[in-house]
Amino acid sequence: MTKCAVLFVCLGNICRSPVAQGVFAQKLGQAGLADQVEVDSAGTAAWHVGKAPDSRMVQAAGERGYDLSYLRARQAVVEDFDKFDHILAMDQENYEDLCHIRPQEAQAKLALFLDYASGVEETEVPDPYYGGQKGFHHVIDLVEAASDGLIESLKL
Ligand code: 4NP
Repeated sequence: MTKCAVLFVCLGNICRSPVAQGVFAQKLGQAGLADQVEVDSAGTAAWHVGKAPDSRMVQAAGERGYDLSYLRARQAVVEDFDKFDHILAMDQENYEDLCHIRPQEAQAKLALFLDYASGVEETEVPDPYYGGQKGFHHVIDLVEAASDGLIESLKL
């Protein structure tokens, strides 16, 4: 039975939040916690709705043992604040955009994902979309660290 639901949010839902979803889900599985947490991702923008993750991120994630092929982009909606207990934004702009659609009575905890990454100085997961392949691997480094911290903090 699921104990909580976690939503990862970036701008396009084709680079950062899908890999956060894939990495976090895989780590939950490895910890034997997959059936206790519902995991999803979304974008603040609608540009890529219905699309698979960016092929550069699929490749980088695949090299690190994460399968993102089953994911399709969707836009974050007001109802997400009802459905999810934790909503994790990749950067400050995503966080502020989410604040704008957040209902006043919302119970979901909204935070920057890297708040959960111990030993990491950066506060935002940088947008890799316009950069080279190295940027995609850096995103995965950050997402792995934050996923470990988030799993620990959920105390499942
Ligand atoms: P994401 O990256 O927010 O990590 O999915 C981006 C994807 C697409 C665009 C920007 C960022 N875009 O401008 O289309």
